[in-house]
Amino acid sequence: MIKKAIFPVGGLGTRFLPATKALPKEMLPVVDKPLIQYAVEEAAAAGIEEFIFVTGRNKTAIEDHFDHSVELEAALIDKGKEAALQTVQMMMQSPGSVAYVRQQAPAGLGHAVWCARHLIGDEPVAVLLADDLVKGAPALKEMVEAYDSGNMVAVMEVPREETSSYGIVTPGASHGQVVEIEGLVEKPAIEDAPSNLAVIGRYIIEPAVFDILGQQRAGVGGEIQLTDALAAQIGKQPFTGLRFSGTRFDCGSKTGFQKANLAFALERDDMAPELRRWLRDELAQS
Ligand code: G1P
Repeated sequence: MIKKAIFPVGGLGTRFLPATKALPKEMLPVVDKPLIQYAVEEAAAAGIEEFIFVTGRNKTAIEDHFDHSVELEAALIDKGKEAALQTVQMMMQSPGSVAYVRQQAPAGLGHAVWCARHLIGDEPVAVLLADDLVKGAPALKEMVEAYDSGNMVAVMEVPREETSSYGIVTPGASHGQVVEIEGLVEKPAIEDAPSNLAVIGRYIIEPAVFDILGQQRAGVGGEIQLTDALAAQIGKQPFTGLRFSGTRFDCGSKTGFQKANLAFALERDDMAPELRRWLRDELAQS
């Protein structure tokens, strides 16, 4: 039912400067794979067939990443590096299934999503934020399987003192992993937060959300917020949250990004034994 996904990748990535001066933050690798590729693979695992990137200036590395590199592939064939060749060839999506739209100014997540409106028909569409890396069960697949109609977001509990970094929901009745959402507010101060249940960067949105975004005023931070458009739909369409089973890493923060690197590396047979030994020694000394 959900065949298209939007990947907003126009953000400046200022928290990772100087690494992100010329490199898109979505291209930062967790172990040896860029963040954006994890998101694309998660979308593909959920049955997504069309991948729409909302990019900005200095983001051409993302376009190159998802295209053939003729010289590289020729060199790998020449050197007989089969495994490496497979790695770069396996990630190619079918011709014509990847589209790029430019967001001319970083005017907010809602604005980025709205920039893709002409590529979306009368159908619900997924939105994935590559900063939120989910390890284990793919979150979007769980959402697609649980999705019935209306708008849906991935949710998880966060420490109360962190509510001002997230969209925070007012939860209603729960049905298994699915929770009805009765209210949603973007980045509330701790004393105003209706709960500690936060929106994580996975959404399934109805086409009506694009109409709202087109007329919406700037919200928190002077930006057009996707959260505000979803909140405006409450009562008009079903709105649910999915408590996903995987582990989420906040790769928009430096510590979250380091944790993700460690967690993924510690699962790799080629890295784990040496890393474990080193970590044990380091921790014993500190
Ligand atoms: C965005 C959304 C926020 C959501 C968060 C999840 O915020 O606006 O509602 O909780 O992603 O990571 P950002 O982190 O881009 O400021």
